[in-house]
Amino acid sequence: MHKKRFVDPFFPNRPVDDPDRFSGREIQVDEVADSLFQIANSNPKHTIITGDRGMGKSSLLLQTRMLATGDNRLVNKLDIDIGYDAFNYIIAWHDANYDQTPEHIVSGLLRDLEGNISKLFGKFNLELDLYGLKVGSSVQKEKTVADLVNDFCDIIKKSYKAVIDGKKQGIILFIDELDRVRPDSGIATFFKLATEKLSREGIKKVGFFCAGITGAIQKLEVDHGSVFRTFRDVPIPRLTKSETSDILSTGFCGVGFTFDRIVLDAVFELSSGFPEPVHILGSEMLSEASSKQITIETFNKAKKRVVTDVKKNKLKSLLEKAGYGKYQKILEAMAKYEGPYVPLDFISRHIGYDQKQFSTNISNLIERETITRVDKGVYAFVDPLLKEYIRNFGIINIKDNVDNDEQ
Ligand SMILES: Nc1ncnc2c1ncn2[C@@H]1O[C@H](COP(=O)(O)OP(=O)(O)OP(=O)(O)O)[C@@H](O)[C@H]1O
Ligand SMILES: [Mg+2]
Repeated sequence: MHKKRFVDPFFPNRPVDDPDRFSGREIQVDEVADSLFQIANSNPKHTIITGDRGMGKSSLLLQTRMLATGDNRLVNKLDIDIGYDAFNYIIAWHDANYDQTPEHIVSGLLRDLEGNISKLFGKFNLELDLYGLKVGSSVQKEKTVADLVNDFCDIIKKSYKAVIDGKKQGIILFIDELDRVRPDSGIATFFKLATEKLSREGIKKVGFFCAGITGAIQKLEVDHGSVFRTFRDVPIPRLTKSETSDILSTGFCGVGFTFDRIVLDAVFELSSGFPEPVHILGSEMLSEASSKQITIETFNKAKKRVVTDVKKNKLKSLLEKAGYGKYQKILEAMAKYEGPYVPLDFISRHIGYDQKQFSTNISNLIERETITRVDKGVYAFVDPLLKEYIRNFGIINIKDNVDNDEQ
C-alpha cells in the first residue's frame, strides 16, 4: 500500500516541549507558576516535582523552564495568571546521573549558569576553576558538604549581583532525575544547608526546581530527615481519561486522521493514566492504519505490535527482573485482573496463598519497580504494558515448583 509520509505527531521518547502538546496538569502548572512568582518576590519556594516513572516529570520541568524564561504559551492556554507580563529569570539546568555527588551537581549547574549569564551579558567568569568546580580543574581533595555549600553560595552571590543589576528576576536552578543520586551522597544535607544560607544572606530570588521518582525522593531523606518538606512538593498524578484522549485526538487531528471514540476508551484502559504508552500506541496506530480512520481493529493491531515487537525486549527484561516462582505467579494473577488496580485478595485467591504468605514478595516487587502500591491492599503494574505482555506470552516458568523462592 502506498502511504503518504508524515511527521509522527507522537513522541514517546522525549519530554513535551510544545505547550500545545502538553495535556492537562492545570493544578501542577499553577503551582510551579506560583513558585516562580514567590521567588521573584523574595519568598523562595523551592519546588520538587515527584511522580512515578514515566509520568511526565521532565515534561513539567521543561515547561517550567520555558515559563521561567518568558514563554507564556502554556499559561495562556490554561488561562493562568502569573502576576507578571512574563518571567525573565536566568536559569541553569543539570540532569543528575547515577553515582553523582552533590559536587557534580553543583558543578554542572554552575557551569551552565556561567554560560547562560555570558550569553546575556558578555563573557562572565565565575572562576569555577578556583573552586575546583570546572571540568578538568586540578583535582582537589574531596570537599565536605559544608565546604561545598560555602563555595556554592559564594559563587551564587557573585552571579546574583550581575543578574539583579541586569534587570533579571533572579536565578532558577533546575535539576532533573534527582532520584538517580544516592541517598548517602549528602545531597539532602546540601539542599538544607544551601537554601538556609542563601536565605540568611538575603539572596532570596534564587530557587531550586527538581524532579524525581516518588519513592526514591523519600529515600534521599535518609541523609537529612524531611528536607523535602521544606520544598513545595508538586506530585504528578496519573492522567485522566479526558487528558489521555486529548493527547490522542491532538495527535491524530494534527495529521488529518479521524478516529472512533471507542479507541480512546481502549487506550485509556491499557495505559492506565501513564502518558508514555499513549504516545507509543498513538504512533503505532498511525502506522498500522489502513485508511485515515483509526478503528478498534487498528488499536488491536497496534497493541499487539507494541508488546510483540516495539517494547518486547524491555518488557521481557522487566519480567525477568521481577524474580521467579511466586513472583511470577503474582504477576500472572495481576495480569488476569480486568482493571489496572488489582486488590490483594484477588491475587491471594488466584495463587492460593494467604496474604501473609506472600507479603514479602509484594514488597520485593515494589522494590524492584515491577509493581506499585496504589492504595492499601491495591497494586498496579509500574509499566501498564507488562500486563498485556504477560497476556500474550505468559510468565516465565522456570523453577515452577519453587514456591518459597527468595523468601
Ligand atoms: N502532560 C503531557 N501531555 C502529553 N504528553 C506527555 C505529558 N507528560 C508527559 N508526556 C509524554 O510522556 C512521556 C514521558 O514523559 P517524561 O519524560 O516527561 O516523564 P518522566 O516522568 O520524566 O519520566 P522518567 O521517570 O523516565 O524520567 C514522554 O513521551 C512525554 O512526551
Ligand atoms: Mg524524566
